Amino acid sequence: MPLEGTCEGQMACSTCHVIVAREWFVKLPEASEEEEDMLDLAADVQPTSRLSCQIVLDKEMDGLTVRIPDASVNAQGF
Ligand code: FES
Repeated sequence: MPLEGTCEGQMACSTCHVIVAREWFVKLPEASEEEEDMLDLAADVQPTSRLSCQIVLDKEMDGLTVRIPDASVNAQGF
């Protein structure tokens, strides 16, 4: 997927913003306060938005479905 991940998982950009399919979103651990704060700055935020750099993948996540929002904002200003 064409995701940038500009800050390499430091929760300082939001270029890794994805919208998780509802059936998968409920299976994810809750977002941290820091992740929620960064999502507040992202474009096209939806109820199932997450920063993909904060999603830890394991075998149970096989088949996780996400989509990239139509718009994006890089909070680092790039
Ligand atoms: S890569 Fe920057 S917040 Fe995820």
